[in-house]
Amino acid sequence: MAKQYVIEHMEDGIFPWVVLEYAAVSHDVGGENFHLTSLSPSLMESLPKELAAPGVVQATTTEIINLPGVRELAEQGRVCLLDPAAEKDLCPEDAVNFDWFVFGGILGDHPPRDRTGELRKYGFQGRRLGSVQMTTDTAIRVVKIVIQDQVPLDKVPYTDFPELRWNAHESTEMPFRYVKDETTGEPIMPKGMRELIREDANRGFDDFL
Ligand SMILES: C[S@@+](CC[C@H](N)C(=O)[O-])C[C@H]1O[C@@H](n2cnc3c(N)ncnc32)[C@H](O)[C@@H]1O
Repeated sequence: MAKQYVIEHMEDGIFPWVVLEYAAVSHDVGGENFHLTSLSPSLMESLPKELAAPGVVQATTTEIINLPGVRELAEQGRVCLLDPAAEKDLCPEDAVNFDWFVFGGILGDHPPRDRTGELRKYGFQGRRLGSVQMTTDTAIRVVKIVIQDQVPLDKVPYTDFPELRWNAHESTEMPFRYVKDETTGEPIMPKGMRELIREDANRGFDDFL
């Protein structure tokens, strides 16, 4: 069975940049392998059209632990929580250990406040992706590279806190780690994200995922 990727959505609303991130995840891992869990009933009713389109994501109000088969797999240690506070880093050998990978759909904060900790109650196996906070779509991209492409975490090309330059005088520094496009040297970001960041450039990034 293909590896399954879950974002346990932990906020009531869904911001435009989160929609772009989730659409990018669907593109990267395939909608049939991408689960968006714990949506509030109102959000489930009014899911943005980009995510509500058929095949983009398996969206549900159900908590991750109650998805079919997940509790049993968790008891066998086969569900991995990507947790910035975990003791062990993810490695290519973990491909044989885990079937499901779970991520916090959390409003990002800088510096991080360990809200991923709310997901530890399920008892999943924790793995870290290094010490720097990534956006959620980046974290999923990195897991796919390590697990499916078998590239060790420290061999993934990264760019930390990239500066997006708008013109000679204006730029925005993103307080996260991204995978680097080795051809252009630019951070890999969801389609439409740069434009959105530029529009938001005068706002703080406290609420960014
Ligand atoms: C934008 S991060 C939010 C982290 C949040 N600020 C916190 O305090 O936990 C969203 C999710 O990406 C994953 N993630 C991001 N960076 C990670 C890292 N360095 N190691 C493990 N997981 C990471 C985690 O699953 C996390 O819940």
